[in-house]
This record gives sequence, structure tokens and C-alpha cells, in this order.
Amino acid sequence: MNLLPRDENGCPYLQLAPMEGVGDRCFRRAMAFVGGFDEAVRDFLRVPINAHVKSLAKVYVADELSPIPLAAQIMGSDPDLMADMAQELSQRGAPRIDVNCGCPSPTVTGRGAGSSLLKDPRILHEVARSVVRAVAIPVTIKMRSGYEDTSLFEENILAAQESGVRYITLHPRTKVDGYGPPARWDLIARAKSILSIPLIGNGDILTVTDAISMLRNTGCDGLMIGRGSIMNPFLFHQIKAHYSQVPYEPKWEHLLQFFEAFIAETPGDFSLKLRVNKLKQLLGFIFKSNGQLKEKRQLVLSASHTDPKAFLAFALPLLQEGWMFRKV
Ligand SMILES: Cc1cc2nc3c(=O)[nH]c(=O)nc-3n(C[C@H](O)[C@H](O)[C@H](O)COP(=O)(O)O)c2cc1C
Repeated sequence: MNLLPRDENGCPYLQLAPMEGVGDRCFRRAMAFVGGFDEAVRDFLRVPINAHVKSLAKVYVADELSPIPLAAQIMGSDPDLMADMAQELSQRGAPRIDVNCGCPSPTVTGRGAGSSLLKDPRILHEVARSVVRAVAIPVTIKMRSGYEDTSLFEENILAAQESGVRYITLHPRTKVDGYGPPARWDLIARAKSILSIPLIGNGDILTVTDAISMLRNTGCDGLMIGRGSIMNPFLFHQIKAHYSQVPYEPKWEHLLQFFEAFIAETPGDFSLKLRVNKLKQLLGFIFKSNGQLKEKRQLVLSASHTDPKAFLAFALPLLQEGWMFRKV
């Protein structure tokens, strides 16, 4: 089974990155409405010591983006609990389990999970192996290039490969880097030259040019995009258009539809007020990460609207000039 197939025009497999907080269910749903990516990964489900995996797993909804598959990501350090959690998620219909070896948050790393697994390739191997053995569905790893530095980089990717995971997604920054220095794409090329399993490249893809450049310069087998998709929800379509040669030109109305899908009501969904807060969270992220929009951020965050549509009518015109969805 080729887990990372190219599309009919030769475009490599494209994934929407997990982004805890910002990339929540509302965002994923709006992204699925726009489409263009082949699979999404849900943000991590924490598996603490003494976890009740059955109740933890309930927040994962396999058909949330149907027909687009949604992989489940788990984060923890206890091999047995991680295996139990993977089984539970597999029973809930997860098409794939991804093991988080990248989260830099101190509350996570303090318990030895996330990027802390990169401190010792043997532990990384043990945790991944336990998950691989527990389920029949594919297991993958998403990792950073190291904890404090990249001294264990090669050992870690080889430990991951030897654990039996089907492929690795690499975000080539160390835990200590956070999101600061540019992602080291040279490490994606290095990993590609070492590994025999497929590799997905991730980190700092904001435009079609970036995407093509990562693919050409690293030889990776697929791309995962996180923040670039928040800044431009049409980026996946634009990458596909590069291969199909059929231009994809998003219009302002498409952006409105994206936000309408973001706040759309579904059974058991958030209150109107909460939907405004979710919008503020998303827009706050976009305004902060865009030099042209930064100064208007506070204006958007302090708006007093309680109705999502009224809030959008106020906030979207502020976006119109600076948002980067036009940049390819
Ligand atoms: C707000 C935020 C939350 C994130 N949450 C997760 C997560 O739950 N699991 C994970 O593996 N990576 C997480 N990441 C990392 C991203 O998936 C991705 O690896 C990173 O942002 C680099 O890719 P990008 O430059 O395309 O954003 C998160 C990143 C951000 C910005």
C-alpha cells in the first residue's frame, strides 16, 4: 500500500498539519470545505500516566472531515498506555496513528513526552514499537530534528524507522529552536538520503514556490503545511494547480466562504459567543504573523461583537489589504 500517493497530475501527497489550539475542529472543517489536501492530522491527544484511554479517545471523530481522512496523533511516553490509546483510536475508525515526538511545551516535555522522546533514541524506539505492535493500521512519527541540538538526529530517525513506522514527518527545528530560526531543510535532505521509508517535509512552506523548492531540494515524498495554510487556506489548491497547469485563483468571496464554514453550526457545536472567540483566536494568529496587519490586531481582538457574522463583517475588511492569500 502506497501511503503517500501522488495525484493524477503528479502532485505529491499534501497534508494539513496538526495545530493544537489554532487548528481546531472549526479550522479543520473550514479547511476541508476549501479542500486541496489529501489528509489532515488532528492535534495531539495527550496520554498521561494513569490515563483512562477510553474517555480520552472520545474527542477523536474519525469522519470529522469526511471524505478527507483525519489521522489521530498521540503524545505520551508510557509504551503500554500509548499502545492502549492507539487501539482505542483504531477501534474508533482512525486511518492512521501518528506519534508526537515534537511538541516543545514544557508541560509536555516535563513528563517525558513530545520532543523529550528525542533525548534518547532507545525510548523513542520503545514507545513507537509498542504502538506499531498494538494496531493493524499504519503508525507514523512526527518529529523535530532534536531536543537541544541535532547530535542525535541520525540515531533518532533510524530508531523511528527500525520501530516499524510507515513514514516520518520531519519538522527540522530542535525543541530549543521553538519556531524561531528558519526550518533546516538541509536536514530533510539528509534524512531522505539515510532513510528507506518515506519522508514528509514540513516547516516554513508559505507559498507555492516554497513547496516546490522543498520538494526539489530535499527529495521528500510529501508535504505537510501548518501555519502557511492559516495564512492562505488556498495554498494546497495552488500547489496542486502548479502540477495540473490549471490556474487556481481564489477570490475574496472564497475567503468569505472559508470563514462562513469556520463558524457554521453543526449539532452539539459551540455557542455564538464561543464562535466569535474562536474567530478572534484565528484572526489574532493571522494578524500577528503578518507585518502589514500587526497593528490592527488589537482592534480585532477587542471588538465587542457577540454575533459571529457581525464580527466577520467588521474584521474581514481589515484583513483584505494585507492577507497573503494572493501571494503565490
Ligand atoms: C499553534 C500550533 C500548534 C501546534 N500543535 C501541534 C500538534 O498538536 N502536534 C504536532 O505534531 N505539531 C504541532 N504543531 C507543529 C506543526 O504541526 C508544524 O510542525 C510546525 O508549525 C511547522 O510547520 P509550518 O511551518 O508549516 O507551520 C503546532 C504548531 C503550531 C503553530
